[in-house]
Amino acid sequence: MNLSVQLAPKHQKGLLLANPVMTASGTFGYGTEYSHLFDIQRLGAIVCKGTTLKPKEGNPQPRLAETASGLLNSIGLQNIGVKALIEEKAPLWAHWRVPVIVNIAGETVDEYAQLASQLDGVAGISAIEINISCPNIKAGGAAFGAHPRSAAEVTTAVKAATSLPVLVKLTPHTSNIAEVAIAVAEAGADTISLINTLKGMTIDIAKRRPLLGSVSGGLSGPAIKPVALYMVYEVAGAVEVPVVGCGGIITASDAIEFIMAGASAIQVGTASFTNPRAPLDILEGIKQFMEKEEIDNLTDLIGAARG
Ligand SMILES: Cc1cc2nc3c(=O)[nH]c(=O)nc-3n(C[C@H](O)[C@H](O)[C@H](O)COP(=O)(O)O)c2cc1C
Repeated sequence: MNLSVQLAPKHQKGLLLANPVMTASGTFGYGTEYSHLFDIQRLGAIVCKGTTLKPKEGNPQPRLAETASGLLNSIGLQNIGVKALIEEKAPLWAHWRVPVIVNIAGETVDEYAQLASQLDGVAGISAIEINISCPNIKAGGAAFGAHPRSAAEVTTAVKAATSLPVLVKLTPHTSNIAEVAIAVAEAGADTISLINTLKGMTIDIAKRRPLLGSVSGGLSGPAIKPVALYMVYEVAGAVEVPVVGCGGIITASDAIEFIMAGASAIQVGTASFTNPRAPLDILEGIKQFMEKEEIDNLTDLIGAARG
């Protein structure tokens, strides 16, 4: 059975995954946190926490709230900063079989470019994922992803600053996600991943105050799956580059739905909080499905539900 997928077919280095199961940024730390729970080397790829130029403490507590079929988070990109990532995390990743992708976030186009150039050539890093979709920061983030022109501008700057394959992660907060996808693909994105969280809030009625310390947060989990699935379907029909689906994937059948919608790979996020082995369980479930359906090549499933 062949589960491998090439996520950057036009890139000189390429981004070959042994299987389509990736972890979603911000839900799997730097990979090291989960390595004692299961063999993370069996995954397709690991995407680390969103990384900024300087370390960030994130937003005020509380930063997590459960909702019906979902999770609201307002972490605000708490992270160790790119310098510590290069010095402390990348040397560990360099010994791993599983490719690690670094998710980056900036407040300006130049910050994204600086991050990309600092990460270029660092052993242990296989690709960059541009986060132009974070709803939990005051400047940058989702604002760049909302419009085709600004999304393309960030993509062009990052591509010029790195020799690594570049994934661009889109926000659902835009009037036409296919247009944004086309713009970033034209700007040189090797791969498009989607979606990031949807902005929402919850109120503590006893205190008569928003429950989250920063009022709003990003909604993830099963509640957003139908939205994410349809956006993946739309984007996969609009661009030639490979698409990575994300949003509410809890089970193998969720993952297969995204693949049938046109995703070449999928990312598992919130599911890891209730079941840390979720990415591996999903991989096993995909294999079982392929066995049952007598499918030898994962690529035969990609876009299978498209007309
Ligand atoms: C606690 C938390 C932190 C997140 N941090 C990031 C981040 O740093 N960068 C990013 O691009 N996405 C981040 N995300 C978004 C996820 O990567 C993913 O796009 C989203 O949660 C939808 O997938 P899911 O429903 O499977 O969780 C975060 C999500 C959660 C729940």
